[in-house]
Amino acid sequence: MTATHEHHSPTAAGSGASATAAFKESSTRRSTAGSSPERVAGIVGDILKAIDDVVHRHDVTYPEYQAAKAWLMSVGEGGEWPLVLDVFVEHFVEDQVSRSQHGTKGSIEGPYYLPGQAKLSAECTLPMRPDEKGTPLVLSGQVRDVDGNPLPGAEVDIWHADDEGYYAGFAPHLPDGNLRGVVVTDDHGRFAIRTVQPAPYQIPHDGPTGALLESAGWHPWRPAHIHLMVRADGHRTITTQLYFEAGEYLDSDVAAATKPELVIAPADDGAGVRRVTYDFELEKD
Ligand code: DHB
Ligand code: FE
Repeated sequence: MTATHEHHSPTAAGSGASATAAFKESSTRRSTAGSSPERVAGIVGDILKAIDDVVHRHDVTYPEYQAAKAWLMSVGEGGEWPLVLDVFVEHFVEDQVSRSQHGTKGSIEGPYYLPGQAKLSAECTLPMRPDEKGTPLVLSGQVRDVDGNPLPGAEVDIWHADDEGYYAGFAPHLPDGNLRGVVVTDDHGRFAIRTVQPAPYQIPHDGPTGALLESAGWHPWRPAHIHLMVRADGHRTITTQLYFEAGEYLDSDVAAATKPELVIAPADDGAGVRRVTYDFELEKD
């Protein structure tokens, strides 16, 4: 990272605070799971048993327990829980839930989704700065049901990082809504979205999450990716991400959220624009 990037790098505390606020505002995610005492006891009991197993297998010491306790406290104080959970844990849940979902493969939502973005017509350019950096990219495709019927009026809610790996709404130097939008498919369920190629994303590393990564010798990177949430009336919403063929960190994503079915290979059209097609298939709900 160069010095020019560094001066406006969002801090872990800043990104974490924004992600915490976004999560708390989201009414759907605030709803309680409604689990019975038996289910809570079963799940939490098994988590504790798993910890017990790790403590014995690794002969964990008191200083290590105190270090873990201090680290967990600092994650809370730093407001980094949305970052820690979505990067280390969400993929386990996504993998389990997606076993019962047909159609397009899902991936984690991550901490940076913001609802209520600008509605855009099927053929559109995402909101961006006049001097937005990055290779122009056009993502087109069709939204269909799993029987192949096109879904007109479906919503392709798209968000991604900029050419420096930063997300609007979580990095103070970016305008609200930058590289975010809700694209509505046309009469044939089609869309064509013009944007710029995102850069790989680095977990903010100046807080407790970064300290853990460094202590463990793990790198803080996610491969470049585009987030999508595809919705259509009467159909199960698919939350997913698209990755880029031969992209750096594709095989070592810190969030373990890549899937081979979600890798796209845009090709230069000869005029400096990378173009790629990806279709989405939704099952009825
Ligand atoms: C995190 C950030 C992302 O952009 C993402 O897709 C997943 C996780 C994170 O910082 O935790
Ligand atoms: Fe992301």
